[in-house]
Amino acid sequence: MRSGILVVAAVAAAWGPIDARAQDGEALYRRQCATCHATQAGQNKIGPTMAGIAGSKSAGVPGFEFSDAMKGANLTWTDDTLAKYIADPKGTVPGTKMVYAGMKNPDDVKAVVDYLKTLK
Ligand code: HEC
Repeated sequence: MRSGILVVAAVAAAWGPIDARAQDGEALYRRQCATCHATQAGQNKIGPTMAGIAGSKSAGVPGFEFSDAMKGANLTWTDDTLAKYIADPKGTVPGTKMVYAGMKNPDDVKAVVDYLKTLK
């Protein structure tokens, strides 16, 4: 019985990898990012809004006071730079004022990046 349920779950996961990932990413975001980051344009909290973050320039969110480190980072938020920053904020932008230790699981990081890309 028990293994039957596991097989069904595994098949379901294999059928819907992209949707499942985007959903996991949203759940992870709610738990680990949403306290500091709103998803609506113009709404900055402890951190800048994540609306439209994918493809934007670092420290480019209007009305948010970024650290000197982020102002000088000169990054474009691609899949790659977002993943690096989320996995290791202080290693990627030394001196950043984002107080977040980093997300260790690369699959989780990818899921969160995929979710960020849905925020327009
Ligand atoms: C404790 C609050 C906090 C948490 C939790 C947090 N952040 Fe941040 N985040 C910040 C702050 C503050 C900044 C501005 C950093 C700076 O200026 O150095 C920032 C900056 C960023 C930036 C760069 C924005 C830009 O316009 O350059 C991204 C991307 C980002 N955070 C994503 C995330 C994601 C994704 C998570 C969850 C995995 C997360 N953050 C968790 C506070 C937080």
